[in-house]
Amino acid sequence: MSNELSDKVAIVTGGASGIGRASVETFLAEGARVVIADINRELGESVAAELGPDALFKHTDVADSEQLADLVAFTVESFGGLHVMFNNAGIPTAMRGNFLDDDFADFDRIMAVDLLGVIRGTQHAARHMAANGGGSIINTTSIGGVQGGTGEFAYRAAKAGVIHFTKCAAIDLGRYNVRVNTIAPGAIPTPILGTATAHLPDSDSAVRQLRAVMKSIRPLDREGSPTDIAHAAVYLASERSAYVTGTVLPVDGGITAGLAGNAMAAIEQEQLA
Ligand SMILES: NC(=O)c1ccc[n+]([C@@H]2O[C@H](COP(=O)([O-])OP(=O)(O)OC[C@H]3O[C@@H](n4cnc5c(N)ncnc54)[C@H](O)[C@@H]3O)[C@@H](O)[C@H]2O)c1
Repeated sequence: MSNELSDKVAIVTGGASGIGRASVETFLAEGARVVIADINRELGESVAAELGPDALFKHTDVADSEQLADLVAFTVESFGGLHVMFNNAGIPTAMRGNFLDDDFADFDRIMAVDLLGVIRGTQHAARHMAANGGGSIINTTSIGGVQGGTGEFAYRAAKAGVIHFTKCAAIDLGRYNVRVNTIAPGAIPTPILGTATAHLPDSDSAVRQLRAVMKSIRPLDREGSPTDIAHAAVYLASERSAYVTGTVLPVDGGITAGLAGNAMAAIEQEQLA
């Protein structure tokens, strides 16, 4: 590690688990001070205690605008500023295979956390950054927001909204030197897969099957890790990306590049065998 983020203060929402936690650890390793904002108090407090005095926990529900305002105020008060806002917290839709049977019971909560939470998180952070020379805002979308696909309709719509919002915010906030970018993770094994399949009788088996499907559509031959996403977040948080705003960075082993597998080669092989 090379102190890419020394002197920077960051907030990571959803920082208690998965991609958020890996990002907190990587930001710290790069010299930042970090506030972990999460709805899971027990986990968040224990992660912060484990990581030492440069990591603090602030209980936050990103669906609540007042709590986001308090989070920014707490961060500025504790660490003297805010340079990086990683709006990463997110929840999945319960995975259902058939649109016609979807009752959209979780639609409002998905939109409140996955979309409005990002919008409000950007707004509260940007208010501080605009008045203090600028900053970097990173939003987590998903390959499900980039590509169409089946199932998870509310989640896909929310994550597509994150991409469009990110571009609009980047345009609006450019004059304040506030950059806004989004990362589209794909196929990263974290607890979110278990949450998405928790309604099924055998969630563990469903997660294994999902990981196998991801493997079959992924050009790179290895599964991603939360740290793969954290490295992209460090780039977007650091001065290395000083001229980059309004972008979508897929970190997905190549899934959104297109279909993996060479159908023509398979046909040719069969015919010429
Ligand atoms: N894992 C993947 O393959 C993948 C793919 C695409 C996008 N994502 C996105 O990455 C982000 C992180 O997901 P993850 O895979 O690390 O999952 P995760 O479940 O491990 O972590 C999500 C964290 O967000 C927190 N959280 C949930 N609701 C919250 C709220 N209202 N306020 C504050 N915190 C809240 C949870 O407590 C948890 O700590 C999410 O936005 C998710 O949609 C993940």
